Amino acid sequence: MGAPVFAPDRFWFGGDYNPEQWPRSRWAEDVELMRRAKVNAATVGVFSWAALEPEEGRYEFGWLDDVIELLHNGGIGVVLATPTASPPPWFTLAHPDALPVDADGTHKWHGSRDTYCPSAPAYRDASRRIARALADRYGAHPALRAWHVHNEYGTMCWCDHVAAAFRTWLQRRYGSLDALNEAWYTAFWSQRYGSWEQVLPPRSTQYLHNPTHAVDFRRFMSDELLDCLREQRAEILAAGSTAPVTTNFMLPTWNHLEQWAWSDELDIVSIDHYLDTTGPDGETHVAYGSDLTRSWAGGQPWLLMEQSASSISSEGRTAFKDPNRMLRNSLSYIARGSQGSMFFQWRASAAGSEAWHGALVPHAGADSAGFRGACELGATLEAIAEVAAPPADGQVLDADVAILWHADGWWALENRSLPSDGLDYSAAVRDAHRQLWQTGTAVDFVRPGADLSGYKLVLVPSMAPLDDAAVRALTDYVEGGGQLAVWYFSGVTDEHLHVTLGGYPGRLRDLLGVRVEHFAPLAPAETVGLSDGSTGTQWSELVHLEGATSLATYREGPLAGHPALTAVRRGAGTAYYLSTRLDVASAARFMAYLTTQANVRPVLGQTPPAGVEAVRRRGAQHDYLFVLNHSARTVRAQGAGHDLLGDRDTSTGVLIGPGGYLVVREHGHRPAWTIDTTEPEGDPADG
Ligand code: GLA
Repeated sequence: MGAPVFAPDRFWFGGDYNPEQWPRSRWAEDVELMRRAKVNAATVGVFSWAALEPEEGRYEFGWLDDVIELLHNGGIGVVLATPTASPPPWFTLAHPDALPVDADGTHKWHGSRDTYCPSAPAYRDASRRIARALADRYGAHPALRAWHVHNEYGTMCWCDHVAAAFRTWLQRRYGSLDALNEAWYTAFWSQRYGSWEQVLPPRSTQYLHNPTHAVDFRRFMSDELLDCLREQRAEILAAGSTAPVTTNFMLPTWNHLEQWAWSDELDIVSIDHYLDTTGPDGETHVAYGSDLTRSWAGGQPWLLMEQSASSISSEGRTAFKDPNRMLRNSLSYIARGSQGSMFFQWRASAAGSEAWHGALVPHAGADSAGFRGACELGATLEAIAEVAAPPADGQVLDADVAILWHADGWWALENRSLPSDGLDYSAAVRDAHRQLWQTGTAVDFVRPGADLSGYKLVLVPSMAPLDDAAVRALTDYVEGGGQLAVWYFSGVTDEHLHVTLGGYPGRLRDLLGVRVEHFAPLAPAETVGLSDGSTGTQWSELVHLEGATSLATYREGPLAGHPALTAVRRGAGTAYYLSTRLDVASAARFMAYLTTQANVRPVLGQTPPAGVEAVRRRGAQHDYLFVLNHSARTVRAQGAGHDLLGDRDTSTGVLIGPGGYLVVREHGHRPAWTIDTTEPEGDPADG
């Protein structure tokens, strides 16, 4: 990233503020409550297009002038959104061709949000105009902290505008129709294209789509949406505004963007992150989202733009999110490099599609556990403000392990007609990350083709397409002394999804020293025992050794006696191969083996007690240790440092009760820590 390191003087705390939903009489109360909670950043304008431009070309900025002034006078910074995620009804009626069309040809209408086609010229023009009008008016306002362009880019469309833009993109990518025909393998099923006009988006069709066509369309859509962002950013810059530009990515269910390319264009990389379960796995998800986002930001600070203050939507209900959990989650994002904790939204809407969503000020008002939690978070963030200053090199975390990540891997496995419906890229990546979280080990994600020499261990979970640069980077890494672990169905194709012939995993066969003759996916509930006592699930395959040695063989079934887990020395390093999906316990054991082989240690040297998270964030002058006790037991932490929240020394040990947390300014470089579950005498609710 070329942008300067995102280093605000304090953590940003606040969230989406939608004053246009409320009478003016409420605005002063909002600012008063924000001040009480120590909110210092409000995201305004996200869905305000109709209020800002009630008719084409007629702007009403007066209300926003007043809101921004009120916030500014209250000492609250403004993250100003461009409202282009929700064009107003007048726009639709004036430009019906700018409405989105489904893959099956269904036209969508206004009445919700995101009702636009990203390739429609009228939408692009209108977006540029409103972005420019906002930038002209507010670009130099002293309250302006950042530009929040659009909201959660990801709207897909299959209309004729998109078809035209897709063709242009394909012409740039392939140069000639012959090259496209070859890349898409159109000899299959008589799909050969004789002119560019014949090429369409992958609209609903009779049977299976051409997989390369489908993945190229995802790549194109990501680039097309990025062009939308670039155009708005150009208007902001042309207006002379120097405030940093961001847009909020969405996790985990949206995979519409190729985040590495997007992050290269942003001054602040930000995400919206919502817990996907009420259960304890929610905490591993917070870490996962955070580690991904920091990695997309080049290891530098980033921003949590939205989380839910008081609700978790999962399992068919909107559960109450305990304020204590909200606090712990906030600290977990920050421990992993976020420069704040922002929320959707400030005040719960009185009606509308998201009326039942959590908020910092719930329907009950300020006399509520939710708002008291918000106040506690505001005070907490002030108390740990010094942590926000990043180190000179901008790298906020040290990690010895990296997981290869790319949207291509996810898109490729979304195609139907794969050898197993159980192939799930994001689940495979998440599994690997979760296993490391459970041992308290810091993790980065890396982009295919990146220099990996700074890592002791690199993991490649089921990344089917790999291009030459990615294969070369993995090979160089191992030959230079790295430890690499590759899961089945990685490197089986090139970037065009063409299978590398001669045996799987084609592109990595030489590096791994194995040749897979055929796959043997398991039925959903089927398992297979391995000779080392492990259990495989979901997948198996007939592996022949071609230089590698077997660490474990299949013990039963048609593959009995054949290698299941292998290792090979290559240059100064070692490459491991896993030909099955190990069950949870076996996977944890194998990960422990890999980390031992690679000499990777948990953050504290040893694995913390179950449910306790320990993360070290690097700062300008010191390192900071975050200890988050998600468990129901009191733990005791001891190490050289100063507890910023309790204002006490930690060298003789402090107790952290269930749900408690600690943020410690460490004394010296990497002091020794012990965290144990010894139930001490006295009051366990310390911390
Ligand atoms: C997203 C959006 C918000 C809101 C929340 C609800 O993050 O950006 O506008 O819809 O989801 O969870």
